[in-house]
Amino acid sequence: MLLEVKNIRKQYQRQTLFCAVDNVSFSLQQRDYACIMGRSGSGKTTLLNIIAGISTPTQGRIIIDNTDIAPFDDEQASQFRNQTIGYVPQGSSLLTNLTAMENICLPYYLYSKNKQPDNIECCNKRAQQLMQMAEISHLSEIYPNQMSGGEMRRVAIVRALICSPKLLLADEPTNDLDDESSRQIMQLFSGLHSQGTTILLVTHDHEVANYASKHFKMEAGKLTDYS
Ligand SMILES: Nc1ncnc2c1ncn2[C@@H]1O[C@H](COP(=O)(O)OP(=O)(O)O)[C@@H](O)[C@H]1O
Ligand SMILES: [Mg+2]
Repeated sequence: MLLEVKNIRKQYQRQTLFCAVDNVSFSLQQRDYACIMGRSGSGKTTLLNIIAGISTPTQGRIIIDNTDIAPFDDEQASQFRNQTIGYVPQGSSLLTNLTAMENICLPYYLYSKNKQPDNIECCNKRAQQLMQMAEISHLSEIYPNQMSGGEMRRVAIVRALICSPKLLLADEPTNDLDDESSRQIMQLFSGLHSQGTTILLVTHDHEVANYASKHFKMEAGKLTDYS
C-alpha cells in the first residue's frame, strides 16, 4: 500500500467539541486514481491536510510508503512530505512576489539537502519539462497577478510535481475554473496517472470525479467507499 489512513479523527474546539473528520480509514495502492466527493464543510480539506502532515489528527495513524509520519518533528515532516507528496492546495497558493519558475522551484530550494550547481541545473531542467507538459512554458518569468485562474492552478500543479512525488494530493483543483481550463487540468492529471503517479483528489464536481477509478464520499466527517 502506498497510503494507509487508519481511524483518523480530527476534533476542533468551537462552542462545543466538534468532529470535522470522524474515524476515517481507507488505503490506496500505487497507481490508484482516487477521488473524494463531498459538500462544502464535510471535512475534505481537513483530511487532506492530515494526510499531507500539515495538520495533526486527534486520533489515528497515517502511513505513507510504509512510513508512519506521527513521530516526525516539523522539519522531518516537511522533508518527508517534500520527497513523497505533492500537494495542490485549495484556492490560490502561489507566492505573488515570485515568478512561475521561482514558485515551481521553491520546494526544491527549501528542502533539498544537496544544492550543488548540478542539482540546481537539474531542477531547472525538470521544471522546464513539467511546464512544457502542462503547456505553461510561456509563463516561466510571469508573476501570478498576470495569470488566469487556470494558469495559476497549472503552475501550482507543476510546483507539486517538482520533487517527483509518489502521491499527488489535489484539493478542488478545478474549482472556480471554466470548462476548458478544467479539462486541461484533468488531462494533465490523466497523463501523470498514466506515467505512474498515484492521485488523490477532492472535488464536488461529478464530471471531475469521473476521471478517477476509485470513489469515496465524505459526509459530516465520515468517509464511505462507493466505487
Ligand atoms: N481550524 C479550524 N477550527 C475549527 N473548525 C474548523 C477549522 N478548520 C475547519 N473547520 C471546520 O471543519 C469542518 C470541515 O472543514 P473543511 O475540512 O474545510 O471542509 P471541506 O473541505 O469539505 O469544505 C467545517 O465545518 C469547518 O468550519
Ligand atoms: Mg475544502
